[in-house]
Amino acid sequence: MFSEKLQNAVKSAKQIAVLTGAGISAESGVPTFRGENGLWRKYRPEELANFDAFINNPKLVWEWYCYRRELISRVKPNPGHYALVEMESIFPQFTLITQNVDNLHQLAGSRNLLELHGNIWRSRCVDCSTILTDEDVVKKDALQYCECGGLIRPDVVWFGECLPSGILERAAAASARCDVFLCIGTSALVQPAASLPLYGKRSGAFTIEINTESTVITELVDESIIGKSGDILPQLVKMTKEIRKNQG
Ligand code: OAD
Repeated sequence: MFSEKLQNAVKSAKQIAVLTGAGISAESGVPTFRGENGLWRKYRPEELANFDAFINNPKLVWEWYCYRRELISRVKPNPGHYALVEMESIFPQFTLITQNVDNLHQLAGSRNLLELHGNIWRSRCVDCSTILTDEDVVKKDALQYCECGGLIRPDVVWFGECLPSGILERAAAASARCDVFLCIGTSALVQPAASLPLYGKRSGAFTIEINTESTVITELVDESIIGKSGDILPQLVKMTKEIRKNQG
């Protein structure tokens, strides 16, 4: 399954950068954004995941997040998430960059993690920007208000918004200095995350895509592996361990 070039790349790699998208959580039961199960009450995510939608109809958007939190609270990390935890212990430097807000990488035990799009279990005041991690806030179906009177929103990145300060810079730096870049379970359609594999490629990293189907970056990466991340990643980790053990 893994080409000789890929094996050579992981054999000598010191720095790894990984970008994950909704596909890695699909086997846990979290619907992807653009897949068949990605719709909620016939809305496309783009229609709900933006500030204007929240201001125009905060109740609707808050309900969508309540639905997603309820769904996510019932799922567990899958072998793909755990394989990345193991991978972190193999390489001297390992940076996991995720577009997911579902917290499953943290639950699995990943440590050096950059959350590009925030986290669904955190909230934030739209007026004073106070971050709230209190579970009571996210458990309530009704709209919440801050002490300052501002409306409480999920602390996630919506379309048209900037990424959390410093996170993109750290993700771009890790992508540009890595020896191997892995792009897993993302359609690579949403910027700026979609550019990260290209930073890796441009800097000479060996780039690998793992996805159940071809994407816009399939032609650009050095190796595309079509399959489920929950199947492929544990095999990749097994092969990597063997090959690095044999080299002493
Ligand atoms: P998408 O829903 O756009 O893409 C999910 C990708 O995962 C697709 O390319 C699928 O083929 C692939 N996939 C599905 N199951 C898989 C599996 N078991 N193993 C491997 N791959 C699998 O989700 P993202 O690319 O994450 O942003 O979407 C990017 C961003 O768009 C999200 O973070 C979100 C969304 O709007 C914001 O909310 C800002």
